[in-house]
Amino acid sequence: MSKRTVLTGITTTGTPHLGNYVGAIKPCIVASHNDDVRSFYFLADYHALIKCRDPETVHRSTLEIAATWLALGLDTDKAIFYRQSDIPEITELTWLLTCITAKGLMNRAHAYKAAVQDNTAAGEDPDSAVDMGLFCYPILMAADILIFKANHVPVGRDQAQHLEMARDIGQRFNHLYGEHFVLPAAQLDDNVAVLPGTDGRKMSKSYNNAIELWLPEKKLRKAIMKIVTNSLQPGEPKDTQGSALYAIYSAFANDEQRAQMKQAFADGIGWGDAKQQCFELINGELAGARAVYEELLAQPARIEERLLEGAARAREIAAPFLQRLREAVGIRRLRP
Ligand code: TRP
Repeated sequence: MSKRTVLTGITTTGTPHLGNYVGAIKPCIVASHNDDVRSFYFLADYHALIKCRDPETVHRSTLEIAATWLALGLDTDKAIFYRQSDIPEITELTWLLTCITAKGLMNRAHAYKAAVQDNTAAGEDPDSAVDMGLFCYPILMAADILIFKANHVPVGRDQAQHLEMARDIGQRFNHLYGEHFVLPAAQLDDNVAVLPGTDGRKMSKSYNNAIELWLPEKKLRKAIMKIVTNSLQPGEPKDTQGSALYAIYSAFANDEQRAQMKQAFADGIGWGDAKQQCFELINGELAGARAVYEELLAQPARIEERLLEGAARAREIAAPFLQRLREAVGIRRLRP
């Protein structure tokens, strides 16, 4: 049996926060050390253009996200780590797929439907401010996945529909032109609890409740001290259920630490003490990597080099495959 091929993309529009780290980055880095999987991790910078029109933000985010993954110990001997825009075969495949994707399928994409609903509710033209990038987003994502024959794609729930669409699109191409693509399965991990933010809702940049991953120590401590709690005093027993602080602590703790904190809550630990312990735990896990991150940020040329190495390896796979796909659709040399 061939190896499991895992692939995931990270859109380069922001600065990573603790929720990204716990939910996505850390599990992928752990998996990158596994000999039984072939993994592809990439910076989805063409996807970023759909959401962000600020060139500096896209550029800076690419640097920060690449530095993050490298600093945290991504095994780039095993995993192939690259930037989407360095692989022209992906955008070429996007066109081949665009030509066989039903417009009706794209009409059903959640992001597009939400935009249409908002516009309709506001009395605007349904497609007001919708550009073709947003509309065709799932096709670019399908190309990302299909070009490397990925069969496992770890994504959050919000991306599940895009995965279904990648399957549909791949299947239709196979039906028309022969069995070229492997159909991917989503790998929705329900065990990874969604990390709450400082206000108790899901940690998300858009809620303004996120704790950035690489805050310097003092700022990290300050951010953790701001996590919402209630007015229970030291000595009063506290509930771990529904406590954002406990959930955040848990995401970094081992079983023993988790049990101890649970006990401390029952014994009435003061919020300040609990927060201090949470800070020490998280800081302990990140401090070493933070130093590497700072070093890497100061040497973008080193990051660039690693990305180009990854791109070269990725293209060794993508280029001959795309050549076969072009031939399959009839784009061929005229001479025999
Ligand atoms: N759309 C994904 C997100 O916003 C990022 C992404 C782009 C991706 N291409 C991908 C994820 C391919 C998995 C596979 O999270």
